[in-house]
Amino acid sequence: MSSQIDHLLDETRQFPPSEEFVARSVSSPALYESAAADREAFWATQSRELLEWHKPFTQVLDWSTPPFAKWFGDGELNVAYNCLDRHVEAGNGDRVALHWEGEPGDSRSITYAELTEEVKRVANVLEGLGIGHGDRVAIYLPMIPEAVASMLAVARVGAIHSVVFGGFSADSLRSRIDDAGAKLVITADGGYRKGRVSALKPAVDQALADRGDGEQQTVEHVLVVKRGENEVEWEEGRDLWWHEVVPAASPEHTAEAFPAENPLFILYTSGTTGKPKGILHTSGGYLTQAAYSHKYVFDLHPETDVYWCTADIGWITGHSYVAYGPLANGATQVIYEGTPDAPHPGRWWEIIEKYKVSIFYTAPTAIRSFMKIGRSVPAKFDLSSLRLLGSVGEPINPEAWIWYRDVIGAGKTPIVDTWWQTETGAIMVSALPGVTATKPGSAQVPLPGISIDVVDESGSEVGNGNGGLLVVTEPWPSMLRGIWGDPERFTETYWEKFEKQGYYFAGDGARLDQDGDLWLLGRVDDVMNVSGHRLSTAEIESSLVAHEATAEAAVVGAADETTGQAVVAFVIIKESYLSAHDPAGLAQQLRLWVGEQIGAIARPRDVYIVGELPKTRSGKIMRRLLRDVAEGREVGDTTTLADTAVMSIISAQVK
Ligand code: WT7
Repeated sequence: MSSQIDHLLDETRQFPPSEEFVARSVSSPALYESAAADREAFWATQSRELLEWHKPFTQVLDWSTPPFAKWFGDGELNVAYNCLDRHVEAGNGDRVALHWEGEPGDSRSITYAELTEEVKRVANVLEGLGIGHGDRVAIYLPMIPEAVASMLAVARVGAIHSVVFGGFSADSLRSRIDDAGAKLVITADGGYRKGRVSALKPAVDQALADRGDGEQQTVEHVLVVKRGENEVEWEEGRDLWWHEVVPAASPEHTAEAFPAENPLFILYTSGTTGKPKGILHTSGGYLTQAAYSHKYVFDLHPETDVYWCTADIGWITGHSYVAYGPLANGATQVIYEGTPDAPHPGRWWEIIEKYKVSIFYTAPTAIRSFMKIGRSVPAKFDLSSLRLLGSVGEPINPEAWIWYRDVIGAGKTPIVDTWWQTETGAIMVSALPGVTATKPGSAQVPLPGISIDVVDESGSEVGNGNGGLLVVTEPWPSMLRGIWGDPERFTETYWEKFEKQGYYFAGDGARLDQDGDLWLLGRVDDVMNVSGHRLSTAEIESSLVAHEATAEAAVVGAADETTGQAVVAFVIIKESYLSAHDPAGLAQQLRLWVGEQIGAIARPRDVYIVGELPKTRSGKIMRRLLRDVAEGREVGDTTTLADTAVMSIISAQVK
């Protein structure tokens, strides 16, 4: 089977950066030139400029035993020192590191000096509990400052954190604690979500309870932040209150240097298929690329910018672009505990107004949900502080891109669409906002120092104008170093497919347009085959969303007697349309619309109008479940859904 993915939609709009933006831009075309001249020397320079090494490295990349890379292998550094102490030592201790906004409206602003002191105290507590080099610590917290402080304190003592998203169940937490063999869990009584306290400590208790024979309990202590004011059960000797032990600990703590390849964290990717993988990241290379990409992609001016990435620390975006990148760069950032719509649908825009956020980074799923409610909500707030917008997590269709720019960015902010993965650790593909003319819907070009290609099944370049499989052709500093406890799965999943070429296989379909800009077409497993044409989910969804009635869409390929597979679409209609139109008429209109926009081959066989789409907790659509519905099967495993009830609602609506 050919891996060529047919390309059917064309986007020709381009937005070059304004003169004012270029004049103050942190990046310049020279970055591309120096990276192209000598890639390893380029990364060495970036690392030396952006980080402080306790022991400078002399080696850059060791790729003698692929796919196991070492970056800056003989250097030593302390990650937390780089994110905290050195900013204080440089005289920036009074700069705000975190503007924290709680969901109920309580808030705290914490300076670099204060955060440094807090992390030192926590580091002393950890060491007092016997946590040191190489130990694993599970972090199961809401988005509160203690979450960031915990990650940094674990890093400071050379231990390894495994952050588990607070929305995950006791079972998911348990399997992650067990897989990593965590000695300590840091949690809270609860946190605020959608206007009420959502408890966390009971899930920890449950995850640690009822060990069967031979099931070893590795956890010795549970450190609990008081946030939710909900009642909790207490196990004397095991459980400790943060507010009792942290303030009592010494504020003095000297950061020890650890080798560049010291493991920093494990992060489990649930993904849309398969058993979670513990993706392992290490220190020096990871921090280099997190800081580098944060600085240049977001055009960071740390003295004046207020940066806000809406991701939870439970995801890689919250690691690289809340905890590590921004703090390594001495940025001032906002973190927010709750959901976008609590207590009112303008909550995010209110926060942007309050803190005068200048750089804003979020996901297409959020943007589309705001499109669904309409522009009148953001219009009530002053968003004029914004000067740069970012997107991550899924393809952002041109329609949403333009809405984002017009409605949130006042028609003037550059938008950076950033492609990367938990596995890549940091941004790999993105426009540089002061250099690149941006193109709605395209992630565009690899960052300086990164080598990307689109290839066919045999690993040959497809060339401009063609689609295929996205690969990374050269090792990069923040690449995953393995899957925790499973080196074979690491090799098999990412490196075997293009072993001959030594390419990393990302699992995404992609296309290069005539200008050489990259378009992401969705996960390779989701590609449809209609009458022998490989069609991308992303393009048809993009076309559906371009219709004025549509808020969100997901398409899947369902078995079809005549065409092999047929396109089946699940569509959410904007509130304003739903009341005024009859659903059967709308569905028919949308079928014809896709036919006109893309071509008859892409016209959905069925369009189902639904109220919700099945999503993982990080907002990715689980198309495999929609395929079950489309093919009339019993719906498969729904445990990784954010809302497990959604599938029965959809099935009922489809019937
Ligand atoms: C997968 C990785 C990277 C942080 C958040 C997700 C998809 C990610 C984009 C983008 C199109 C994107 C890919 C990728 N993806 N960013 N800008 N355009 N698709 O991390 O959960 O590891 O997911 O998300 O399919 O492989 P993740």
